[in-house]
Amino acid sequence: MKKTHIALAVATLALCSAGLAEAANDEPITPIKPAANINLGQVELGKKLYFDPRLSKSGFISCNSCHNLSLGGTDNIPTSIGDKWQQGPINAPTVLNSSLNLAQFWDGRAADLKAQAGGPIANPGEMGFTHDLAISVLQSIPGYVREFKQVFGADKIEIGDVTAAIAEFEKTLVTPNSRFDQWLLGRSDALTADELAGYNLFKNAGCVACHNGEAVGGNSYQKLGIVEPYKTTSGAEGRAAVTGDDADRFNFKVPTLRNVELTYPYFHDGAANTLTEAVDIMGRLQLGRKFSASENAKIVAFLKTLTGKQPSFLLPILPPSSDATPRPTPFGK
Ligand code: HEC
Ligand code: HEC
Repeated sequence: MKKTHIALAVATLALCSAGLAEAANDEPITPIKPAANINLGQVELGKKLYFDPRLSKSGFISCNSCHNLSLGGTDNIPTSIGDKWQQGPINAPTVLNSSLNLAQFWDGRAADLKAQAGGPIANPGEMGFTHDLAISVLQSIPGYVREFKQVFGADKIEIGDVTAAIAEFEKTLVTPNSRFDQWLLGRSDALTADELAGYNLFKNAGCVACHNGEAVGGNSYQKLGIVEPYKTTSGAEGRAAVTGDDADRFNFKVPTLRNVELTYPYFHDGAANTLTEAVDIMGRLQLGRKFSASENAKIVAFLKTLTGKQPSFLLPILPPSSDATPRPTPFGK
């Protein structure tokens, strides 16, 4: 059945693109849709907050420090660096397309983006602040007081409005129009023969069992190390930390593979530096399959076609602090 499927795809590719568009309809991966139903006022405010380091104790760390939108929404280091140069315990996932996830964080402990956004501000190892202090900073900045009033209609800034605005901005960080999506939508020349062969390997080897849907992941929790155990010194327990169920130990939210070319290093401990390495580990540990160098290269070539249109906007100019704004404390106390 799977074999006929590839044969069919290849044959259609050779014959006509209309047939291919039809074949694409039952692919396990679906094209990313542009963001819809967005509140533009909240997006503009949330964009400012996303880039504002004054939401951190040091006055130096913003969401963009660890989820850098010039770097695929991540920091490209194994585990993030937070307040007082502390090295965090886990790799920062990309914020790109995170609105498509079934829940947020590697273990899914935040139900959605709004619930997630409050976490880092008050996390001692990340922005190291408290919600009350963050609010007192924002409330001391006249430009923010005006904009919150305009967008949410209240004189007092509430943490729930801060996280709602950030989440609304994050909803715009989807990346449609990758070459792979163009192919799914019927442009048969959008992929090279090697890339298409890589996709067929990805499907037929069984990667799509976990990496599927619009985000090519993000929609289930799965065990890392099904056939062979994963060796790591990271203390992460995975989903068990949330459910308390031992059966969920080392189950992680399957990461999206959208833009994966940009989001190295890989895995929750950031231990794999290259896609070649990550694909090799996935093949062996999840599927008991050792890919040849040429198979691996084809899968990597396919994965690189998942890079979509990156968010593009003018850098927000932040409203200045006032004389009443509490001073940041970059070096402790
Ligand atoms: C010091 C670095 C750091 C800062 C600052 C930071 N994050 Fe994160 N972020 C991380 C790490 C590390 C994780 C993964 C934590 C985990 O899963 O336990 C994460 C997870 C996330 C996720 C979940 C993505 C997914 O796929 O599960 C989102 C969304 C996110 N952060 C948004 C934000 C926002 C919004 C801000 C600013 C309010 C922010 N982050 C500030 C490091 C950071
Ligand atoms: C049984 C489910 C499952 C299968 C099958 C599977 N994966 Fe994964 N994949 C995961 C999980 C879970 C993670 C996250 C592991 C972690 O770091 O904790 C992951 C992570 C990855 C990553 C790293 C992404 C990142 O941002 O860190 C890549 C790349 C990847 N998989 C590719 C593949 C390929 C290629 C295949 C097929 C050879 C495959 N996967 C098969 C579940 C699966």
